[in-house]
Amino acid sequence: MRSAVFIVVGLFCFNLFAQRNKPIPEMVETDCMGCHMNVMNAPLMAGQNRDFLEFELFNFRDYIRDHEIMNQVMEDFTDSEVMEIAAYISKLSLCHTQTPVEEHPDANVKKGEEIFNKSCFDCHKKDNLGIGPVIHGQKTGYLEDAIKSFQSSWYEPRPSRVNMRSQTDMLSDQDIKDVAAYLNDQKICEEK
Ligand code: HEC
Ligand code: HEC
Repeated sequence: MRSAVFIVVGLFCFNLFAQRNKPIPEMVETDCMGCHMNVMNAPLMAGQNRDFLEFELFNFRDYIRDHEIMNQVMEDFTDSEVMEIAAYISKLSLCHTQTPVEEHPDANVKKGEEIFNKSCFDCHKKDNLGIGPVIHGQKTGYLEDAIKSFQSSWYEPRPSRVNMRSQTDMLSDQDIKDVAAYLNDQKICEEK
């Protein structure tokens, strides 16, 4: 798996640097969506709120949100290119990419729904109008890692415009499994 990751990254970097003059929409479709449709734990990002995308893309570019691949992907873009990328992705339909179907043998989806409705619903809507990103229909593994990455026990908690740490610190590992399974089950698009 690790070597597969390196091959993907290697091919990608070569591709990006070789074709830096592509218009942004074409660059996003060819160089970003490959990973962001269904590969590994890359989240579905089409149609997310523009402010959220800008915040995250600048954080990757400036090494404020730590992720080896995404830091390298973004590091050479100018401010205006980052803004153009965020604007383009935010205008795509939330259904632009396929939502994967996953099994959740170790999770209690009902419990996850209760947690979500009590603690998360205010900010995470099924459209892109909430302050938080759309997390319905995201991949389970990505959701679990992302929730943990805000917790204060994480090596370097992920930055946020709201206090996500106070939203996630009370969740046990089982709670996180449950809420991630519930969210993954919430399809935002018809199956393609
Ligand atoms: C080699 C695979 C790969 C490529 C290519 C890639 N990404 Fe990513 N991207 C990821 C992964 C994996 C994450 C999840 C990071 C994490 O877990 O913190 C991510 C995270 C993101 C996020 C944060 C989304 C969120 O919901 O938090 C955005 C935005 C993003 N990428 C945009 C892009 C753009 C724009 C490009 C092209 C210029 C791109 N990515 C290319 C793998 C990739
Ligand atoms: C006060 C508003 C608020 C509440 C409540 C909240 N979140 Fe968030 N959440 C955010 C914001 C905002 C972000 C994105 C970081 C940013 O833009 O500052 C985020 C990011 C996330 C992400 C990362 C998504 C991605 O695509 O990278 C996950 C997963 C998440 N929240 C899960 C939860 C869960 C689970 C709960 C409930 C236990 C919760 N959030 C409660 C506002 C909130």
